[in-house]
Amino acid sequence: MKPVCLVLGAGAGIGGHVGMRFAQEGYHAVLCRRSDEAGLHKLVEAIEAERGSASGYLLDAAKPDTIEERVEAVEAEIGPIEVVAFNLGAQIGDRSLADTSHKAFELGWRLATFALFRVAKAVCPRMEGRGQGTILVTSATAAVRGNAGQHSHAAAMGGRRMLCQTLNAEFGPKGIHVAHILVDGAVDAPDTLGKMLGPERFQELREARGLEHDGLLLPSKIADTYLHLAKQHRSTWTHEIDLRSFSDRPWWNH
Ligand SMILES: NC(=O)c1ccc[n+]([C@@H]2O[C@H](COP(=O)([O-])OP(=O)(O)OC[C@H]3O[C@@H](n4cnc5c(N)ncnc54)[C@H](OP(=O)(O)O)[C@@H]3O)[C@@H](O)[C@H]2O)c1
Repeated sequence: MKPVCLVLGAGAGIGGHVGMRFAQEGYHAVLCRRSDEAGLHKLVEAIEAERGSASGYLLDAAKPDTIEERVEAVEAEIGPIEVVAFNLGAQIGDRSLADTSHKAFELGWRLATFALFRVAKAVCPRMEGRGQGTILVTSATAAVRGNAGQHSHAAAMGGRRMLCQTLNAEFGPKGIHVAHILVDGAVDAPDTLGKMLGPERFQELREARGLEHDGLLLPSKIADTYLHLAKQHRSTWTHEIDLRSFSDRPWWNH
């Protein structure tokens, strides 16, 4: 039975590449995303084409019981979840306070913070029983810096970071490695940044800063770091790490 890497929020960017990277290492990748069935199949097929093992599920992490039921089914039908890559974003673009509805604010919290709490409640007892497990949490600049228009996103991501620290305090000594991975810059991610900008602006950005310029974070390279974190010896665990392109200024310098 293969160990499982469960990816919550698996698009063609970080989530899909993390699934691919772990599948290359012998894990069964369970890819979950909200809506794009064709995109999901494409990711699973790409892994299988490399002789990896994967399955894909549509799941809306904002809805009750979805995460819990998927964890239960994966453990029963596929195998023990050794690694969770929690990759749900909550970016809604810049919105003034007046333009941020209660609903939008709450949805940010549901995805960025509460969904992590829910997956932790579902997997931590199982990982604890096995004495090991890894929870890799993708995060963003907004986890450490509030900014104009980021009411929902920054509050929710700040909560995500604090939840990682709290989980780490309780479960680190029980053998569960929780890592908060601060992605401090734009990612070459067509399903998130690409959709937010629209195809033309996204392509312009890629040509200006991405591609051969390496000014957008490449999801396949981010995935290498996820694998490294999951393989760290417990005498040298990283709890928090930040990643950015060589040409970007870090968040504290602008
Ligand atoms: N992209 C960036 O520039 C950037 C920058 C800094 C940090 N990050 C962080 O990176 C992570 C996302 O990685 P990525 O941008 O490379 O994206 P990705 O892995 O390509 O895709 C993430 C996927 O999450 C899925 N998702 C969104 N809401 C969901 C829900 N309610 N239930 C289930 N799945 C849901 C979306 O699925 P559907 O497409 O099916 O809706 C989306 O494809 C987030 O944690 C974000 O904060 C991204």
